[in-house]
Amino acid sequence: MKFGYFDDNNKEYVITTPKTPLPWINYLGCNDFFTLLSNTCGGYTFYKDAKLLRMTRYRYNDTTPDTNGKYFYIKDGDTIWNPGWQPTKTELDSYECRHGIGYSKFTGVKNNIEAALVTFVPADNPVELTKVTLTNKGNAKKDIQLFSYVEWCLWNADDDMKNYQRNLSIGEVEVVDSTIYHKTEYRERRNHYAVYSVNAKIDGFETSRDEFRGAYNGPDKPAAVIEGKLHNTIASGWYPIASHQLNVSLEAGESKTFVFALGYIENAEDDKWEKPGVINKKKANALLAKYQTTEDFDKAFDELCKYWDNLLSKFHIESSDEHVNRMVNIWNQYQCMVTFNMSRSASYYETGIGRGMGFRDSCQDLLGFVHLIPDRARERIIDIASTQFQDGSAYHQYQPLTKKGNSDIGSGFNDDPLWLIAGTSAYIRETGDTSILKEMVPYDNDMSVATTLMEHLKRSFDYIVNHKGPHDLPLIGRADWNDCLNLNCFSEHPGESFQCFGPSEGPVAESVFIAGMFVKYGREYAALAKLLGDTAEEARVLAEVDKMIAAIEKDGWDGEWFVRAYDAYSHKVGSKECDEGQIYIEPQGMCVMAGVGVDNGNAEKALNSVKAKLDTKYGVMILQPAYTRYHLELGEITSYPPGYKENAGIFCHNNPWISIAETCIGRGDRAFEVYKKTCPSYIEDISEIHRTEPYVYSQMVAGADAKFHGEAKNSWLTGTAAWTFTNISQYILGIYPTLEGLSVNPCTPAAFGDFNVTRVYRGVTYNIEIKNPNKVQKGVSSLTVDGVEVQGNVIPFDPSKKVVNVIATMK
Ligand code: GLC
Ligand code: GLC
Repeated sequence: MKFGYFDDNNKEYVITTPKTPLPWINYLGCNDFFTLLSNTCGGYTFYKDAKLLRMTRYRYNDTTPDTNGKYFYIKDGDTIWNPGWQPTKTELDSYECRHGIGYSKFTGVKNNIEAALVTFVPADNPVELTKVTLTNKGNAKKDIQLFSYVEWCLWNADDDMKNYQRNLSIGEVEVVDSTIYHKTEYRERRNHYAVYSVNAKIDGFETSRDEFRGAYNGPDKPAAVIEGKLHNTIASGWYPIASHQLNVSLEAGESKTFVFALGYIENAEDDKWEKPGVINKKKANALLAKYQTTEDFDKAFDELCKYWDNLLSKFHIESSDEHVNRMVNIWNQYQCMVTFNMSRSASYYETGIGRGMGFRDSCQDLLGFVHLIPDRARERIIDIASTQFQDGSAYHQYQPLTKKGNSDIGSGFNDDPLWLIAGTSAYIRETGDTSILKEMVPYDNDMSVATTLMEHLKRSFDYIVNHKGPHDLPLIGRADWNDCLNLNCFSEHPGESFQCFGPSEGPVAESVFIAGMFVKYGREYAALAKLLGDTAEEARVLAEVDKMIAAIEKDGWDGEWFVRAYDAYSHKVGSKECDEGQIYIEPQGMCVMAGVGVDNGNAEKALNSVKAKLDTKYGVMILQPAYTRYHLELGEITSYPPGYKENAGIFCHNNPWISIAETCIGRGDRAFEVYKKTCPSYIEDISEIHRTEPYVYSQMVAGADAKFHGEAKNSWLTGTAAWTFTNISQYILGIYPTLEGLSVNPCTPAAFGDFNVTRVYRGVTYNIEIKNPNKVQKGVSSLTVDGVEVQGNVIPFDPSKKVVNVIATMK
């Protein structure tokens, strides 16, 4: 069952009922200013950091799901309604929500009044703009009222929901004409405030939530709206809000348009005040002046659309498969941008007050984003590397505003260092910019001990070399990619952090997954050393890689698949010897991607085992059989009920690893089958089962052991976005950036047919035509570049050309 449809021409998903199984959201904002916005106008806004600079309030885990947003109320006689249905939930005569790329549109109709909203955040200014067009579709004149509504958050979202003894006394606002200024804490240590304004003369305002709603009323029954009159209160403490009242007369057929702007302003420390107690509004007024007319709005909206068209044009495919075209050209790349910006901080499943930016998460997000805006990827790499420790280990998370490592969680996740190599290698393969390797980068943000980034990569690599266990496999520490496989934790009491409770050093638990990563990213690091002319380092690294391959083959192979790990007692995890959790997905994907077992048939065996034991119609499960009881020696993974999350859920993030691994052994049919199972567009028809948004990936789909098999959770912020885009663009479609240039080596289903890709790479546009006359799954037999046949798969990079035409024929 569907709740809408894809409109590919407009790059939109059109939701046709407000009653979707879960709120279906969109993200507005590309740089510093962000809004989460649901299909019923719920959501919130923040500047840079969802915890520390939250602008508007949201209530997670509320009894009416998805309450609080930026609402518009319309009072038409006795009927009060919202164009996005919530919060009054007055039944609409018609409803539509279009989530587009960086914007959303809503159209609600009730009793012949149509309210159309368009809302977006311009690429270059910290402001959310909403155009509200009211149209009288009837034959008689109507006098109606429009009320806006936002509830301010007192900046620190964590403190805001906990510290009432202070917070109920500190709220402060100012109002001048049609602009409401939220200035809580500006009197003391903050130098920023928020504004909410409309480009018309208002008929009233409200800044006190109690006055607006009336005692004991929810947002669905605001007393002042029912009364038809705002009270012009200046809030003092309690719950500051911003609401405008506009009395609107509409002749039959007439439309009126208003532009609302919600902005964030920072002033210099010595320029905070206009006069004592009155904030300096110069910058706010300058910002608002840019968006005073409908034309200003439309122009800014056009610019945003052009900005996105340009970004998305960097990778474009035309094939006979509409799902692939749609996901690759639009939604998958879009989700990559959103995950790059948010990491795992702010979604409808991540409150924005918990995790900051994850070290491994951000490095992986880069893989899907780097072709879009390489400069931002460069900055991100430096930020991430700056939180590394001198021994090569790393803070597991850092806060986006301060860019400092988060000491609550600390370090000891032993996969982290290698992801820095993965991200850096992807950046250099994309851009050719080796200057980044020579940048001086601090450790733990301490510039006095800075070294080059290349030295950081060396320490990342050596951290693994220096931390091996009894089987010469890497020590796992607190966890590897699987945050819940806590082999050194042994927590017996609720409330203890599974990751931070046990020692990260000391016990000898080892990870075959990290071993696979070490082979894959060790080789990428070796290639960078070679590129810099350091052949001694290259040889040293490759020798270490060979040792690791030998260790995997000796103790990391279980006969039919790769072992997952050795626990602190040196017992196998993910082996046929175990009674539960006999096979795990991660080492099968990572070891094969690294090339381990490709020559001796183990890769094929491992992937056949995955298909036989882990496959379901909704995707590949993370492990089987599910753990049915809590295992002290395995940690959080066994805390989840069977079928959910890391305990035998379909963890979408590592499905592309299996798909990529299949391309490494040339099985295009199977690679694509795995791709399709979790691909949002392919499963739109089962939205009532899947439940999350059909245009983006979710972190997890419940596995076969779960009560709700097929149901997804944690949509949007997941490494799935980057890894699937990497999979489909670089491995299945086969356009892979190497250090020397773009390589063309598709691995598609036999029946996929010919396709064309346009790829902008290092400033050159490549038009690549791929022909598959004999319906093979892999193998390019000829490659011509501007009419000239070249050997191998790589298009030699020639910066003097602007456009290059390539024909690749599969054999
Ligand atoms: C979450 C985390 C990620 C981790 C994964 C598996 O998605 O953000 O870092 O790798 O879970 O545990
Ligand atoms: C929990 C989640 C896991 C996530 C981790 C982050 O363990 O199950 O997916 O990566 O929290 O700390």
